[in-house]
Amino acid sequence: MPLVAPSILSADFGHLSDEIASISSADWIHVDVMDGRFVPNITIGPLIAAAAKRARDERAKHMVVDCHLMIVEPDRYVGDFAAAGADLITVHAEACVHLHRSVQGIKALTTPDGKPVRAGVSLNPHTPESVLEYVLDDLDLVLVMSVNPGFGGQSLIPSTFRKLERIRRMIDDRGLSTHLQVDGGVKPTNAWQFAEAGADVLVSGSGVFNAPDRDAAIAAIQAAERP
Ligand code: DX5
Ligand code: ZN
Repeated sequence: MPLVAPSILSADFGHLSDEIASISSADWIHVDVMDGRFVPNITIGPLIAAAAKRARDERAKHMVVDCHLMIVEPDRYVGDFAAAGADLITVHAEACVHLHRSVQGIKALTTPDGKPVRAGVSLNPHTPESVLEYVLDDLDLVLVMSVNPGFGGQSLIPSTFRKLERIRRMIDDRGLSTHLQVDGGVKPTNAWQFAEAGADVLVSGSGVFNAPDRDAAIAAIQAAERP
């Protein structure tokens, strides 16, 4: 069963702690960090990431805090997100001139409770999986964007499935345990398509937070059953 990572981008930030408690049947908390430069939107910084971490500690202790940095020059800020409590930090390949160095920089960080921070690399819809060739063995996660990053509530780009299948093959051929995450347009109704293409962590923002019953939406994404 895939892991589910609701994106708090679609949450009510005036009630963040309650919003996080409301998704505690899921596995990870996905934190979408946008800078208005890498993507045309500004969202969450380290302060809100730290608030999400506190809410997690109080109300949903099992959840992994998964920070997706859609920002330029992410090396400048990964330390701040680690200090805020990120368990895993993902940077965009397109935003890193020295991607290998950026990945090693994340892996050298520790969480406030002393655990190593895990490292992910994300690919925009147009970016080929070949950029992963020489970093894949060092990664804890690959994030395939199924929409152009910047906003919640967009519909998925179909070439995503082909890319997921290819990266799943790369991971399996190398005998790695790297997570393959997908982000954008994931709903209870289409989760099975991403899971069948090889994704094992499904991000869903509007698909969970706008659902009439969030637990039911999370359970349906976890089940990822063909209709
Ligand atoms: C898009 C973000 C996503 C987004 C997903 O730029 O990275 O995590 O919140 O939202 P939905 O699930 O609504 O497409
Ligand atoms: Zn995201």
